[in-house]
Amino acid sequence: LAAAGLSTAAALSRRPALTGAELRSAVPLPPPFQVPLPRPRVLAPVAPGRYEITQRVADIEILPGIRTPMWTYGGTFPGPTIEARRGEPITVTHRNELPVPTVVHLHGGRTPADSDGYPTDLVLPAQWTAGHHAMPDPRAVRTHLTRDYTFPHDQRPALLWYHDHRMDFTAPAIWRGLAGLHIVRDDAEETLGLPAGDRELPLLIADRAFAADGSLDYPSVDGTLRDRPGVRESFLGGVLGDVVLVNGAPWPVHEVDAARYRLRLLNASNARHYELEAVTDDGRRLPLVQIGADQGLLAAPVTHTALPIGPAERYDVVVDFAAVPVGGRVRLLNRLGSGRTTDVMAFRVARRVRDDSRVPAVLSTDLPAWDRPVRVREFSFRAGQLDSGHGGRGWLIDGRPFDPARTDVTVALGDVEVWRLVADVHHPIHLHLAGFRVRSRGGRPPLPHDAGLKDTVSLRPGEAAEIVTRFDGYRGRYLFHCHNAEHEDMGMMANLEIT
Ligand code: C2O
Ligand code: CU
Repeated sequence: LAAAGLSTAAALSRRPALTGAELRSAVPLPPPFQVPLPRPRVLAPVAPGRYEITQRVADIEILPGIRTPMWTYGGTFPGPTIEARRGEPITVTHRNELPVPTVVHLHGGRTPADSDGYPTDLVLPAQWTAGHHAMPDPRAVRTHLTRDYTFPHDQRPALLWYHDHRMDFTAPAIWRGLAGLHIVRDDAEETLGLPAGDRELPLLIADRAFAADGSLDYPSVDGTLRDRPGVRESFLGGVLGDVVLVNGAPWPVHEVDAARYRLRLLNASNARHYELEAVTDDGRRLPLVQIGADQGLLAAPVTHTALPIGPAERYDVVVDFAAVPVGGRVRLLNRLGSGRTTDVMAFRVARRVRDDSRVPAVLSTDLPAWDRPVRVREFSFRAGQLDSGHGGRGWLIDGRPFDPARTDVTVALGDVEVWRLVADVHHPIHLHLAGFRVRSRGGRPPLPHDAGLKDTVSLRPGEAAEIVTRFDGYRGRYLFHCHNAEHEDMGMMANLEIT
């Protein structure tokens, strides 16, 4: 993708900002807990089951009074939320008016391979002509000027998200704004009596850094610089920002009733890990009652006082504000942060109300056990030397960087397999198509927050975890990769062929 890469680099690098991992903002930042929490708008269909999204550059007001040029789905950040129902297929047509090719992936979707957003299956910029000849290797790269993605929604209700997935350039594209929510619902979940309506809040958490002129700051990934050792090393850990955004607002505040709320948490950060806790003014930690994981409801609620969340993970959590006095505040804090990245958002309790919601003791009964695996495989996720001739280091799976022309693993449709994943440092490992269960971590039983059906497991440094899944649904070429987006771009991705 050299040709596409060069044009990306030109579009990306307002200046060659090689500023290392933790970036400093020179732009004026608002005090925490003052900007109101936005609720991402819900996308209206253009016809039953049909949606359209135009990807384009837009000026977004993230910091009060400051315009930030971003790459957007439909002109907002986050992109519009798609509200879907289990078993009801939809088609989303993406048109790309950005200066670079893009790829759309529905994270957590049980999607036919053709619509899964393979990293070389490009939506070309509309201003490029169909006769553009710069694309190398026509066998590996498919191109479109608009693209229909079809989602059957044959899956458990869950909070999913869509984001860019282009080979080598996913991290800067997500950083620049290409992320949105996609919620699948069903009748069974709606009869449980969980908090709903205004008391269900999707919370997309993502850190960013801003340059002095208000633009987003990101280390350059210019293809001509990227493989120089020093440049790669500067963001080997992934890119962190010093401003925490929730639904696109910096450290927002939300007015709540003294009642239960369902918080649908997504860590959409490129590389930042959080450990969230809800702390009252007098220092009490409110219980975080987990009701769901990446792939929908747990069998039964699990109560946490703090909840670790790695990139791309989701947690569905109920918090009860009934015990907080009116006028009181509850801060959602990040125990892994330092300075301003300790703050995430706050809730201000506005009024006493009657609360008819509940958290039933049994949430779901359809979680698969998968206790008869036919095979165990092991994969290592480690940094290593690249063979690129440039001498840089990259992130590798079993010693190899991603290659779209190579099949790394072939599994048979319907097989139940255990995968043992071994990490050198923190890696949130994501598997496309197949939700999985965590069987063990570090040779011990899984942790409380590993409960339920997941699609991303956050491996801690030096840790090995075992997951179990059944590869069913569709045949074709899928992926697994680290969801530290910079690790993914630096090669920590592999092909999974389901036959
Ligand atoms: Cu969230 Cu392969 O992606
Ligand atoms: Cu990683």
